[in-house]
Amino acid sequence: MTNIKNERRVILITGATSGIGREAAFALARQGAHVIVHGRDQAKTESLKQEIIDATRNLFVDSIVADLFLLSEVRKVAALINERYAQLDVLINNAGGLMGLQRETTSEGHEKTIALNLLAPFLLTGLLLDKLKKSSDGRIINVSSVAHKQLAKPDFTDIENQNRYSVAKAYGDAKLYLILVSQKLSRKLEKGGFENITVNTLHPGLVASNFLGGSGLTGLIKWIGKLSIPFSKTAAEGAETIIYLASSNDVKGVSGKYFNNGKPEKIGRKYDFPKNENTVWTYCEHAADIVY
Ligand SMILES: NC(=O)c1ccc[n+]([C@@H]2O[C@H](COP(=O)([O-])OP(=O)(O)OC[C@H]3O[C@@H](n4cnc5c(N)ncnc54)[C@H](OP(=O)(O)O)[C@@H]3O)[C@@H](O)[C@H]2O)c1
Repeated sequence: MTNIKNERRVILITGATSGIGREAAFALARQGAHVIVHGRDQAKTESLKQEIIDATRNLFVDSIVADLFLLSEVRKVAALINERYAQLDVLINNAGGLMGLQRETTSEGHEKTIALNLLAPFLLTGLLLDKLKKSSDGRIINVSSVAHKQLAKPDFTDIENQNRYSVAKAYGDAKLYLILVSQKLSRKLEKGGFENITVNTLHPGLVASNFLGGSGLTGLIKWIGKLSIPFSKTAAEGAETIIYLASSNDVKGVSGKYFNNGKPEKIGRKYDFPKNENTVWTYCEHAADIVY
């Protein structure tokens, strides 16, 4: 892999305070990028920023705090980025995870898995798109999961699982929807002549991070057990595909793909139709109150 010169490229990474995002943030700062680390806890995010500066000697590390369950907070993040930075080169929508055994909604009324894993990245991307368009090599990287193949059982008339919720289904659905809107955005950008921006999704691998933390879990753990899939990667290994997509010359101009283990792979075929992409896209535009 040949790295692009990442020096001073501005990179925003959400969910950088633990697991895969944290490892990616250190690596990208080490490459000399201007990294903006996002977290939801002020103290944790500030201390991460200092740790990265101390470890990498890169002073161009900033932090931003927001609870991405809430679209109002996503809007605040975007407003700050748009105000503070002249350019944004890479947006890594990494924050995500499984929720509880019972369906829960945010104070804005959205089911939490969908709010965090789909609506937040959709809105953040839309609000930062003009800034990304200014980059000569803009990259949007959406962290999805192989769960979109095994766990998704989407009902495109009930995106937020009002009628049939399970922790595993909600997660699989959300990660599938994120891929569908990413594919559509990639085509929209290409059609609009914005060949300087790419949009890709990825599965980081199975990493024993905190992402199962709040879920109560039985569904996914059973599923992993059944398939005898071990948590085979460290967080640093899990970060590798993110780092590759953010910094390799090999993927300059490559867009609309789903990556696993550093290689493009076909997504689950069952739901991969433009009609479904359009349905989820329209749903997100409506729910997040944005058109782009
Ligand atoms: N681990 C795996 O095996 C695996 C497999 C496939 C896909 N993924 C995906 O990879 C991404 C990173 O996961 P991970 O394994 O690194 O999990 P993790 O260790 O739990 O990290 C998740 C990050 O998201 C943040 N976050 C969670 N809820 C948030 C909220 N409401 N608002 C703002 N930030 C929030 C967390 O903040 P705190 O530090 O404050 O908790 C943390 O920084 C996720 O999108 C996950 O779905 C993971």
